[in-house]
Amino acid sequence: MLSSIILAVACSALAAAHTIITYPGWRGDNLITNKTWPYGMQWTYPCGGIPLTTNRTYWPTTGGAVAFQPGWFQGHNTAFLYINLGFGTTGPDGGPENMSFPMIAPFQLLGPSKGPYPGTVCLPQVPLPANMSFNAGDNATIQVVEIAQHGAALFSCADITFAEPGDEKIPKVNESNCFNSTDLGFAEIYTVTTQEIGAAANMTTSDAMPSFWYRNSSTWTWMGYLPLVLCSLWFLS
Ligand SMILES: *[C@@H]1O[C@H](CO)[C@@H](O)[C@H](O)[C@H]1NC(C)=O
Ligand SMILES: *[C@@H]1O[C@H](CO)[C@@H](O)[C@H](O)[C@H]1NC(C)=O
Ligand SMILES: *[C@@H]1O[C@H](CO)[C@@H](O)[C@H](O)[C@H]1NC(C)=O
Ligand SMILES: *[C@@H]1O[C@H](CO)[C@@H](O)[C@H](O)[C@H]1NC(C)=O
Ligand SMILES: *[C@@H]1O[C@H](CO)[C@@H](O)[C@H](O)[C@H]1NC(C)=O
Ligand SMILES: *[C@@H]1O[C@H](CO)[C@@H](O)[C@H](O)[C@H]1NC(C)=O
Ligand SMILES: *[C@@H]1O[C@H](CO)[C@@H](O)[C@H](O)[C@H]1NC(C)=O
Ligand SMILES: *[C@@H]1O[C@H](CO)[C@@H](O)[C@H](O)[C@H]1NC(C)=O
Ligand SMILES: *[C@@H]1O[C@H](CO)[C@@H](O)[C@H](O)[C@H]1NC(C)=O
Repeated sequence: MLSSIILAVACSALAAAHTIITYPGWRGDNLITNKTWPYGMQWTYPCGGIPLTTNRTYWPTTGGAVAFQPGWFQGHNTAFLYINLGFGTTGPDGGPENMSFPMIAPFQLLGPSKGPYPGTVCLPQVPLPANMSFNAGDNATIQVVEIAQHGAALFSCADITFAEPGDEKIPKVNESNCFNSTDLGFAEIYTVTTQEIGAAANMTTSDAMPSFWYRNSSTWTWMGYLPLVLCSLWFLS
């Protein structure tokens, strides 16, 4: 049992991935694990533990670039990426009260086959959320969410002030700050409906479970080996 616990811990460490927003400039370094943030700052909604800042980056009213380093991945790790906008001053830190306005459809990131790496992703033209517009001088916050392989979410934010496109206060976007690393891949995320709403509610317990799950309680003991099994699959992949 002890070895399975150790392996499970080792496995979760391997799934670590962190995001650094490189354009526009992020709120600050939240790649911190200490007594205040025993699980790591970056897992904290909505902005990885860093409250609103005043060091804003000018960003076009027509949408613009968002570049980030998704961090390091091990093996065939993958992640889901979301980019959202928040605005307003009614949040607890005087910033946005939520980050509920998606700017892009989420997508999947594919890491290289092995080892940690310093990859960069850049989306050169992230649009404003659907049906939204802002004026030059308005403030907002861009949030990048990375869903790690085990389902937990990492958060990082950049505070922006909108500016007319072409305004010289907007930092230039070029091949040195906006590029995709060659060792990264992308995949689309889509859903297929397998049961209409309500269909699952009409199932009986025996319809819903494979028979070896409910037939007798002794068979539950195999669950104890699940971390081991998952972990070996992970290391083999
Ligand atoms: C804001 O300040 C933090 C802390 O000094 C720094 O890490 C971050 O890069 C700054 N962001 C911008 C956009 O200047
Ligand atoms: C942990 O790091 C954060 C961010 O740097 C800092 O504000 C906090 O005081 C640190 N906590 C401890 C216990 O050192
Ligand atoms: C935007 O935020 C800055 C501080 O970061 C503040 O000085 C300015 O008044 C804000 N602008 C608006 C329109 O709220
Ligand atoms: C999110 O924040 C915006 C801006 O403050 C507000 O208009 C909207 O009602 C909020 N949405 C939710 C679900 O709280
Ligand atoms: C945007 O506006 C169009 C036209 O009014 C509407 O059909 C669409 O549902 C809106 N999209 C969102 C995300 O609100
Ligand atoms: C790209 O733009 C940045 C400013 O955003 C500048 O510091 C850097 O020198 C530029 N790089 C090239 C290759 O032009
Ligand atoms: C990086 O890849 C994404 C996904 O394919 C693409 O949308 C984006 O335009 C690419 N960025 C650059 C700078 O080519
Ligand atoms: C679920 O059962 C109810 C009552 O028998 C029936 O009216 C309904 O159509 C069923 N729904 C589905 C999705 O099968
Ligand atoms: C539990 O169920 C399995 C599979 O149906 C069966 O092989 C096993 O003999 C059962 N054990 C007991 C104690 O009933």
